[in-house]
Formats: sequence, C-alpha cells, structure tokens
Amino acid sequence: MLRVEHLEAGYGDVPVLKDISLNVAASETVAIIGPNGAGKSTLVAALCGLVQPRAGRILHREAEVTRMPAHQRARRGLGVVLEGRHLFGELTLRQNLTLAAAHARADAGAKPKIEDAIAEVLELFPFMRERLNDAVELMSGGEQQMVALARALLLRPEVLMLDEPSTGLAPLVVKQIMSTIGVLRSRGMSIILVEQNVALAAEVADRAYVLSVGRVVHEVAKGEWPRFLADDSLVKAYLGG
Ligand SMILES: Nc1ncnc2c1ncn2[C@@H]1O[C@H](COP(=O)(O)OP(=O)(O)O)[C@@H](O)[C@H]1O
Ligand SMILES: [Mg+2]
Repeated sequence: MLRVEHLEAGYGDVPVLKDISLNVAASETVAIIGPNGAGKSTLVAALCGLVQPRAGRILHREAEVTRMPAHQRARRGLGVVLEGRHLFGELTLRQNLTLAAAHARADAGAKPKIEDAIAEVLELFPFMRERLNDAVELMSGGEQQMVALARALLLRPEVLMLDEPSTGLAPLVVKQIMSTIGVLRSRGMSIILVEQNVALAAEVADRAYVLSVGRVVHEVAKGEWPRFLADDSLVKAYLGG
C-alpha cells in the first residue's frame, strides 16, 4: 500500500531522516516508535508531502508520490492528523467537519452527500452530536484530537497517518482514541501510528519500526510484540527507558 525506499529528508542543510526504508500493507496498522527528536514527525511530514525528500522514494500503490504536492497526496487517499491538529479554532465543529467533507476524495467511489458523511463520523464520535455548534477552540484537548481525527476521516483516506494522537491527553481520552483506531483498523484502513508510548502502540499495531536519530534501528515484526516488550534492554536501548 505504502512503500518507502532509502528516504532522506531534513530542514535546510540539516539532515534528519537517513536511509529510511519501510512498508505498510493494505489493512495493516504499523507503529513508528522512538524517542523525542528521532525524526518521527519529519517522517510523517515527508510522507504527506509537507517536507521534500532529498533522496529516496515514496510509493503509494506502486506509483511514485515522492515529489507530489500534499493536496494531491490527500486526494489519492493519504490522510494525516498532524501533531498540532491544525483545526479552524474559531469555526464551529459543524463548519470544520463540513469543510473536510466538501474536500473528500473524489475517486473513493460514489461521493456521499456531506450530511451523510458527517452522520457517519458522528456514529464514531457520538459526543459530537451535542457540540456541532460549538467553536472548536472551546473544546478540550481530547475533544479537539477527536475532531482532528474526524476531519481526516471525512477525506475518506485509504492510509491514515496519526502523529502522536494520545500525547498530553487524559488516560480515558487516550483509551477512546485507541479504540477508535481499533475500529478503523477493523474496517480495513491502513494506519501509520506514531506513538511514543510503546505499550499503547503494542495494543493497536500489528508491527512497528523503531526510529532513532533518523534511522530505522529495529523492526518489531508481526507477533513479536510480547518478546520486544519483555526485553527490557531492547526497550531501554531504543527508547531510553
Ligand atoms: N521545522 C524544523 N526545522 C529545523 N529542524 C527541525 C524542524 N522540525 C524538527 N526539526 C529537527 O529534526 C529532528 C527530528 O524532529 P522530529 O521529526 O520532530 O522528531 P520526533 O517527532 O521523533 O520527536 C530534531 O532534531 C528536530 O530538532
Ligand atoms: Mg514528533
């Protein structure tokens, strides 16, 4: 579904990603774990088109998208929830959702009516029904994270990338977000989950890549989570405790 080959990217003269290769199969949930500053967000930015790679390739469904602009990647079905959420704070929840639904991927089968698409995400996030007319900036951090997720879903992505969706949120909210990711996974969406919390990543992801200083230093293969989590020295070496 998504394949990255020898990717290098950075900011100005500063290299960050060095020779990153990875792949995500259809319907697979893959975690990207690693300490602060490892390059996880830079990887997400490169995958969605916000950072231009210097070398290497990114392929979606075997077509090269390495230098494709971000909006075209979104139209192809590469959806993203960035770290900062990037919502329209002064607009209401309904307006935020309507804007996203209006930009839904054209080739995702018959485009549903905007109202139907919004009704669909409200099923996933029932609390939103009562909040449609509230300005998004007045909502809690957890609610805003769910709005960001709902907005990404309204674009009808085939691959969904989530950059640390649980960071800074209360445990109960984290649980809700993880269970939503579980629902999307069970529907067959391909998911890339950036997550610093390894235990959380292990709950929802089939596999993982461990990033450190811009490189993939370890892979947790399917079925290897228990062994990885049990190996204290491995977790400490890669994640600093
Ligand atoms: N906009 C930027 N300009 C320059 N350097 C950046 C920028 N964003 C991140 N970096 C640097 O790139 C490295 C990787 O950062 P990042 O991808 O955010 O890591 P992570 O998400 O794993 O914490 C860090 O050294 C960080 O300081
Ligand atoms: Mg980050």
